This record gives sequence, structure tokens and C-alpha cells, in this order.
Amino acid sequence: MLLKILIKMYRTHTCGELNANHIGQAVTLSGWVQKIRDLGAVIFIDLRDRYGITQLSFNENNRDLLEQARKLGREFVIQAKGKVVERASKNPKLPTGDIEILVEELEVLNESEIPPFTIEDETDGGEELRMKYRYLDIRRNPVKNNLIFRSKVTQLVRNYLADQGFIDVETPYLIKSTPEGARDFVVPSRMHPGHFYALPQSPQTFKQLLMVGGMDKYMQIVKCFRDEDLRADRQPEFTQIDCEMAFIEQEDILQTFEGLTKHLLKEIHGIEIADFPRISYEEAMRRYGNDKPDIRFGMEFGDLTEAAKGKGFNVFDQQEAILGIAVPGAATYTRKQIDKITDWVKRPQIGAKGMVYVKYNEDGSFKSSVDKFYSQDDLSEWAKITGANPGDLILVLSGNLDATRAQLSALRMEMAERLGLRKPDEFAPLWVVDFPLLEWDEDTGRYHAMHHPFTAPKPEDAHLLDTEPGKVRANAYDLVLNGNEIGGGSIRIHDKAMQAKMLNLLGFSDEEAQKQFGFLMNAFQYGAPPHGGIAFGLDRLVAILGGQETIRDFIAFPKNNAGRDVMIDAPDTISQEQLDELHLRIVE
Ligand code: AMO
Repeated sequence: MLLKILIKMYRTHTCGELNANHIGQAVTLSGWVQKIRDLGAVIFIDLRDRYGITQLSFNENNRDLLEQARKLGREFVIQAKGKVVERASKNPKLPTGDIEILVEELEVLNESEIPPFTIEDETDGGEELRMKYRYLDIRRNPVKNNLIFRSKVTQLVRNYLADQGFIDVETPYLIKSTPEGARDFVVPSRMHPGHFYALPQSPQTFKQLLMVGGMDKYMQIVKCFRDEDLRADRQPEFTQIDCEMAFIEQEDILQTFEGLTKHLLKEIHGIEIADFPRISYEEAMRRYGNDKPDIRFGMEFGDLTEAAKGKGFNVFDQQEAILGIAVPGAATYTRKQIDKITDWVKRPQIGAKGMVYVKYNEDGSFKSSVDKFYSQDDLSEWAKITGANPGDLILVLSGNLDATRAQLSALRMEMAERLGLRKPDEFAPLWVVDFPLLEWDEDTGRYHAMHHPFTAPKPEDAHLLDTEPGKVRANAYDLVLNGNEIGGGSIRIHDKAMQAKMLNLLGFSDEEAQKQFGFLMNAFQYGAPPHGGIAFGLDRLVAILGGQETIRDFIAFPKNNAGRDVMIDAPDTISQEQLDELHLRIVE
């Protein structure tokens, strides 16, 4: 006997593909009801799926169907069968705008409550509400398109690296803590009372062990977890394109990953970018006050410390650093506008004490807030140092060097933003290299690894490790795109003695070093090849390639600013039973 299998065919086409070429065809579509226009004798419904919108039409020739359509609500899931016909009034904005489906059969596949916000490009839903109903937000084009875009970038990355011979290896999520600057998320162990796993801040040590294992070119698109304060470009769980290579030098890594970045810009935006500029950390700090400079615009720092001191202006005379930038075309700013900028830099988030300004007028004269102390010649010198041209406004901050750099850098970015100089469709990547190996931390009174404790000192600086460790530079590099650090990496230590020395410098006793990192140092005793690597922040990369900076918009189910998933309501309490099983006690 012939077994008859009934297959329900939900759709013959998607809602994005029918056009005038299909007129006359019988089709079946499935999707969500986006909009209903009830004109009495005729009803039009916009049917939406991932691919687009197609208009369904119902008329009095079939009254039952008309009544059925009248009962539909927004976001109902329906199936419609009918004929493709030419539309009376065409919609040139829609790819399917020349046609509509004259519906002959309608089936409700599932009803829907009235959604809490409109599922349209411009929605009436606030951020928090949309995160609570993220699955509805994902139906909206802006979010949907971001996720599709992310998938495209991921695919390109995988293909590119696979073509270069990288092997995709998964590393564990339940590990032991790896100090990389942030706090760990920890997971209590049921089977080992009082013991905890940590979720990886990155697969750093594992990828190094893979090099010892001979894998030579490793890649992984991998979740990383860091318990740190959130910002637009940070999430507690985020994704890295994590890579490591053996038998390479810094130059090989820069070439390989510059290649990847160029490939992405070419494939996604059709942009060909020449070789990326490389600047040292020291130079980045001097010219931009920042180790991730946005070089799409100028406004480089001018060091006015020498020129501005000793002219009787007490405020400046006492400062370690006096730094200025020339804001293009802003000499015409009113007093009120300048006061607003002063208020901006004095906000606690920026923390400047005050701001001095100099208007470089079109006629070549200068007008400043410190005219009492500085002659036109003095100010002309300032203009030279900051690179100001007639028509520009010079803004000057002062204080200790590090703080002033940070404040002026923030001001530089803010002014660029206000002047529209941070163009989302312009891409200006660069490498920042030669990072210091260590940074001094005032709070703890000791050195921290600037990148991580596995980064190798530059061989030519290694002799300073015992005498002036703060001066040692590392073979560490960041890839910066439009003012964002999208990737960072280094050449690693592959020698047990050097790793032990480094851990000592970072304040680990021999015993602590052995307990925490014995597994790595032991591995180095069994033929560890020279190696190094890099990790890109995938969320950041995707957001910036997409012309935006908020990574949340490119993550399907992100956390809010307080680190909560408001949709599933996490973090949440657990039952007493679970607590007991995990040997945990909540102390109020
Ligand atoms: P690093 O800590 O620099 O290096 O991280 C690499 C890249 O990951 C991204 N990133 C983040 N993105 C979103 N949210 C976060 N909280 C977050 N933290 C970091 C950044 C950053 O450039 N193991 C090393 C890499 C290596 O040495 O190979 C590491 O993790 O874009």
C-alpha cells in the first residue's frame, strides 16, 4: 500500500520576492500581519516576514473571506493562498510594490496579543520595553538587519581565516580564573564544596596551550565574560574573534589581521584602504591623549606647556601640562556656546577645573579668555603649536599630564561629534603598537600588566625589567577603528623562567604563580614554540562596520545598562535547595 504523506506547505514564496514577473501565479505566503487597512468593501493587509512585506487584498467578491480578514489583528501569524495581481496603486518604495495577492484562502496559524509597541522602523517603544520583548524588537527592520549584518560579518571572517589555514578549536567555558583586568564571573561547583569555576574573560591561556599542542594557527568565535561596568561598547558577555599563531613575529600578526580587516571593508562597503598607519602608544598619547584615537579628523594636541608658562597666569604656571586643540571654524562661537563647552568639560565625568579659549579671528587677530596675560604674539605662537588657522577656536585645558590628556581627548571627540566630523561611513583604521608592558597602579601600589601577564617584553627592552620595569615596552598592539579599540593582542612569553619573572614583577609569589599558572609554565617546559595572537571584539567590529557604536544593537539578546537581562529576568535568586546543593549560604 502506498503511504500517503500529507505535507503542509506553509509558503511557496517569501514576502520579499514577488514582483510583476509573477503576475498570474498562484502562491502561498506565510507571515505576520503588519498592518490592516479596512476600507469597508476592500481590506488590505501588509504581510511581513524576514524578507519583506507583501500586500494581501480581500474584496466583496468573497464576503466570507472579507469577514475573516476583518477579524485579524496586528502580529497574527497567517497563511494566505491566492493569485499575484497587478496593483492599482503601486508603491515604488517596496520591492513588491507593483503587485498584491488577491487572497482566495486564509488560515490563522496563530493569534497574537496586541504588541506592547509598534513593530515598525520608528517604534513608539522605549529601550527597556523593547528589551523585555526582544523577540518582538527583532521583528523590526533595524534590529533584524543588524543581526543579519552580524551574521554576514561572522561568515566573512570564518571564510577568510579558514582560507588562511586557521583551525577552529573550541575551548572550555568552565575554567579557572585568568587575570585580564576585569572581575571574573564565577560558577560554584556542586561536586567540590567551596570551589568555583570561573567563566573565561578570554580563552587566552588555552589558545597558548594549543600552540604548545602544535595547532599553529587557531581561531575561534567565542563568548567571553567580564564582570565590569557597562558602557555603550561593553557587555558582560561579548564575543571575540580569538586567534593565535605559532612561529610568527609581530609583523606576521599585523599583516594577517590587517588583511582580514581590509577584506571586511572591501566585501562589506566596497572600500579599499591603503596600508594602515602604525603609531606607538607614546605617540598616540602625545598627539591624541588617547590610545585609541579617531583619526578621521585632525584636531591633534598642541603642547602649550612651555609657551604658556611664565606669563603671569597663575593657573597655568602651577600645572604639569597645558594642552590645546584647534577646533576648525569655531572662532565664531558665541560666549554662550563657549560657556556650554566649559560646563561640559567641568562635568564630573570629564573633571576639568576650567577651560581657556582663544578665538583666532578670520582677520588674523586673537581674542581669548586670558587676554590679560598673553599678547597677540603669544597667542599667535599658541596657534602655531596647535595648528590653528584663522577662523578656528583654540581650546586649552591644564593639570597633571595624564588627566589633562584624558580630558582634552574627551573634548576632542565631543567637538568632532558636534561638528559632524565622525562620519559613520568613513573608516580610518590604525595600529597602535609598542605599548608599555606594565602600568603602575597607584591604588594597589604595584605594577599591572598593561595587556595581560603573558605578553612578552620587547627583547631590546628586557634588560630594563630588573631596574626600570615601567620603561619596558611590549610587543603588544591594538587595532583601532574610528576611535574604538576593536582588537588587541601581543607576542607571548614562551619561556618558563621569563613567565615566572613576569608574574613576580606583578606581585605573585613563586607559590601563588605556581598555583595559578603552573599549568602554563609547566607546558612551557615541553617545547613551547614562539607564538602570539590577537582578539577582535566581534560586537564592536560589527557595530562600527555598521556605522554605529552601541554594541547592544548588534546582539540578539543583550543585557541592559545594569547588566540585567530584563526579558528572562536574570540574574535571579535560586532556590534554597539549589543553594544547599552548591554549599552556598546567602549572608544578608
Ligand atoms: P582584550 O582584553 O584587549 O584582549 O580584548 C580583545 C577585544 O575584545 C573587545 N572587548 C569587549 N567587547 C565588548 N564588551 C567587553 N566587555 C569587551 N572587553 C573587550 C575589545 C578588545 O579589543 N586575550 C586577549 C587577546 C590577545 O592577547 O590575543 C584579550 O582578551 O574590542
